[in-house]
Amino acid sequence: MTETQDIKRIVVCSAVGGVGRTTITVNLAALLAKENITVSVIDADLQFGDIALAFDLQPSLTIKDAAERNDKENIYFYMMDHASSVKVLPAPDRPEFAELISPDFLSAIIDRLEDNTEIMLVETQAGLTDMNIQLMEQADLILVVSTPAMAALKNSKLMIETLDLLGIKDKAHLVINRFTTQTVIRPKNIPELTNMEQIIFLPLVDKQMEQSLDIGIPFVTSHPKASFTKELEKAIGDLLHLKENKKIKSKSKLGFLHHIRLKGTEQGG
Ligand SMILES: Nc1ncnc2c1ncn2[C@@H]1O[C@H](COP(=O)(O)OP(=O)(O)OP(=O)(O)O)[C@@H](O)[C@H]1O
Ligand SMILES: [Mg+2]
Repeated sequence: MTETQDIKRIVVCSAVGGVGRTTITVNLAALLAKENITVSVIDADLQFGDIALAFDLQPSLTIKDAAERNDKENIYFYMMDHASSVKVLPAPDRPEFAELISPDFLSAIIDRLEDNTEIMLVETQAGLTDMNIQLMEQADLILVVSTPAMAALKNSKLMIETLDLLGIKDKAHLVINRFTTQTVIRPKNIPELTNMEQIIFLPLVDKQMEQSLDIGIPFVTSHPKASFTKELEKAIGDLLHLKENKKIKSKSKLGFLHHIRLKGTEQGG
């Protein structure tokens, strides 16, 4: 099992594109921010990242500007504040700029941000690249996102096998996104199909999910009672056994992390 006590760096990746990395990154960030946790989101989908879009932000500066100036120290200067208090480091505005950002620069930024961030979420581009592997090696938790379709599962399995070879599978969880009761592949078959036991299921949502990306308001913010929101809350609550000292500042609005704290207290942790 993943050691969940000190999760600060979460990498959201996938073998293939279009499975929900951005959706999960943005909604996790919004859920955590709602609990007054300081969250930074780094869009490391460097060619076609759309985190800023999903938060309805229009960046004037991006990670590309920081990389051009080799400016790690002042990385906050290149980030944008979303109304939810999530800080976003946007991807370059053009795909050809992606190559200006080296894996080492990205790693250095992550180290720099750690001082002022409780949880950092990094969305990678789809697939296994040197940069993605470096980000995964640095991470405390790796979320491998897939849909429950055979092709996506087959490729997720290959990715998970690679994580195993690299010795980092233990900190990975598979997220099966867009799951429905009509899905042909049953949950009980997924561990065998993917070679992974640690699995989170997130339901398919109608058109509202797409709309939330289009209007730039995280789905969990506009639909706090939806099953997708509840399942994501439960998943992150289970994953982040936050320490006693990670307080929820607003005592009047006790959310799901409050229950984690209580659980930790009951267990004497
Ligand atoms: N649980 C869900 N229910 C319904 N639609 C979803 C769900 N998750 C994601 N989507 C939709 O699927 C599409 C792809 O999602 P998203 O952009 O988050 O994937 P991605 O992995 O980041 O894609 P890319 O590889 O293009 O970056 C979007 O239109 C999004 O609205
Ligand atoms: Mg994306």
